[in-house]
Amino acid sequence: MKIGIFDSGIGGLSVLHLAMKMMPCEEFLYYADESHVPYGEKTEGEILRFVKENLDFLISEGAEAVVIACNTATSVATKEFRGRFPVPIVGMEPAVKKALELYRGEEKRILVAATPVTIAGDKLHDLLKRVDSGHDADLISLPSLVHFAEKGEFSSQAVDEYLKEELRAFDLANYSALVLGCTHFNYFKERFRHVFPGSVHFVDGNEGTVRQLLRVLPRKPETEGEGKVSYYFSGREADEKEKERLSYCLEQLEKVYHIQ
Ligand code: DGL
Repeated sequence: MKIGIFDSGIGGLSVLHLAMKMMPCEEFLYYADESHVPYGEKTEGEILRFVKENLDFLISEGAEAVVIACNTATSVATKEFRGRFPVPIVGMEPAVKKALELYRGEEKRILVAATPVTIAGDKLHDLLKRVDSGHDADLISLPSLVHFAEKGEFSSQAVDEYLKEELRAFDLANYSALVLGCTHFNYFKERFRHVFPGSVHFVDGNEGTVRQLLRVLPRKPETEGEGKVSYYFSGREADEKEKERLSYCLEQLEKVYHIQ
């Protein structure tokens, strides 16, 4: 069974990475919309158009379910597209609920990092109304991390300086958890670990998303045979160089996978 996963770029590889661990015999189609990254700085109208193009493409390639491995795209497009496609679609949202459930008891606050579109969007604010009645979550947008990630700059002095500058206004000792509310942020767990006190937990929505995918798949995943991934860049097959870049990114994600 073919399962589509898309993001504006390389962020959604963190979802693919986990999906391959949880469904090792499945066939995945990974679609990076590299012509339009970053979504987090685009208008809602533009994002809606990109999401529709990506979904149409993956379904035409035979995907029987699609994961929108992008919090920004989900934030804008879920309501619009719910029930309008012939296959199940799974979106993702910042894992605020999980972070509050796991770490609110520590009497500290939760910091939610995402793109500007996600931070400003109604979807996140509706979620906070539902799950954060105690107003324990603070929000920060970190758009430059998407640019650093797309350049393959996962660890550098410039990244550390950017994080320190953006986080200067926050007393980091007050937080028990950082929610990685953009899939591109997973690449920077080592850098976050460096900047945040050691007691801060990192929470992302990847596991919840893959579990939801498992619930909506039209059939049980394969348990035999070799898994496979085909890569696409904005409506065409990725070339060898692009595939190498994506494999390198997956290696980086494997390295930071256990940092929590
Ligand atoms: N990776 C995406 C997310 O989870 C968006 C990054 C971007 O294109 O701005 O929100």
